[in-house]
Amino acid sequence: MRAVDLIRKKRDGLELSGEEIAFLIRGYSEGTIPDYQMAAWAMAVYYQGMSARETADLTLNMASSGDTIDLSSIHGVKVDKHSTGGVGDKTTIVIGPLVAAAGVPVAKMSGRGLGHTGGTIDKLEAIQGFNVELEKEEFYSQVNEIGLAVVGQSGNMTPADKKLYSLRDVTATVDSIPLIASSVMSKKIAAGADAIVLDVKTGSGAFMKTLDDSIRLAKAMVDIGTQVGRNTVAVISDMDQPLGHAIGNAMEIKEAVATLQGKGPNDLQEVCLILASHMLVLGGKAASEEEAREMLQQKIDSGEALDKLKKMVLAQGGDVTQIDDTSLLPEAELKIEVKSDRDGYIESIQAEEIGIAAMLLGAGRETKDSVIDLAAGVDLHKKIGDPVRVGEVLAVLHLNRQHEKGLEEARSKVLGAYGFSNDRIPKRPLVFALVTPEGIKRF
Ligand code: URA
Repeated sequence: MRAVDLIRKKRDGLELSGEEIAFLIRGYSEGTIPDYQMAAWAMAVYYQGMSARETADLTLNMASSGDTIDLSSIHGVKVDKHSTGGVGDKTTIVIGPLVAAAGVPVAKMSGRGLGHTGGTIDKLEAIQGFNVELEKEEFYSQVNEIGLAVVGQSGNMTPADKKLYSLRDVTATVDSIPLIASSVMSKKIAAGADAIVLDVKTGSGAFMKTLDDSIRLAKAMVDIGTQVGRNTVAVISDMDQPLGHAIGNAMEIKEAVATLQGKGPNDLQEVCLILASHMLVLGGKAASEEEAREMLQQKIDSGEALDKLKKMVLAQGGDVTQIDDTSLLPEAELKIEVKSDRDGYIESIQAEEIGIAAMLLGAGRETKDSVIDLAAGVDLHKKIGDPVRVGEVLAVLHLNRQHEKGLEEARSKVLGAYGFSNDRIPKRPLVFALVTPEGIKRF
């Protein structure tokens, strides 16, 4: 077999066999197929697409290219959740404890962020002492004991995806639906879940800017899950503005804690309840989404969901007093208000611009080696639909003095991210569609 023949075959729109895909992934991982050939193949996929079968084969080959996690020693149906990224997305920190409190074990591997704000793991590290690197056995036994653990991805999981993703990043082949779907699902499959709830974001701050593309991506991922025997559903949720008010690591922990206390922002609370409901149904703890929702609300009202977060923080070496009193979390030295220069209604908020502003204040990494400032970030006081008057505060920038050089650019990015209208703006739905193996339901 020769890589050049497989590139030509894909370029001409033909379907590759399972053996041919295995040859490409093995060769690329081992270094016998060079970057330039893999880049040409990825570009051919970008234009020609892949069949559901090819996509599933690619996924399984990437999933088995490195370490895999065997969750069979954990009792119960293990349900994973994955969000396709977005600004202000702290759903894992809310949903993990919430679902675990309702009896579904959560053994979660999460990532760090590059660019924009931090990932879930960076956010959890805002809690003093929180250890995100557990040995496999510690990880399993913590989930068996308290029902919940969130750790960083092990160093050698899905190395083929890591290598291919870096290549795609510099060859304009990231935004290919089969390549994104196989990349995401390879990591979920390697992480060992029995069932998967996907949160596919749509809108200005998401990979997929249109609802149709988001549905196509969701369907590709649900098809992969179905083909490889993992019950998978996907919720299409809004990322046309950041989720919640807080963007920045410690600030997002505070907001997640408030949400677990039933005092969080409506959009965040609602998206978390929807995703968590699907997890309870897939985990066999509720017969319907409605029943699941009632159970989850009760876990919030009774304080059991927050208690579950505290148990995890304690088990992973974190300072629980910072959860009891979130004012003890890292706090920035400066709080700079960004004020509106006009009257009207907020029509749009470019999520990506807000993410970049948070990064300029220190909340995200500019390069792989940047050190995150855990206290920094942006607190949005106005969201889409809110009325605003000249001089009213749109957002507050949180920063430490060492990042003052980024202040002016961050301020203008935040101001520029807001779009205004003279007319009242109708409320946007938070969730647009549900994709299951049975079909697509649009709301
Ligand atoms: N996230 C991933 O993990 N992979 C992609 O290809 C895109 C987003």
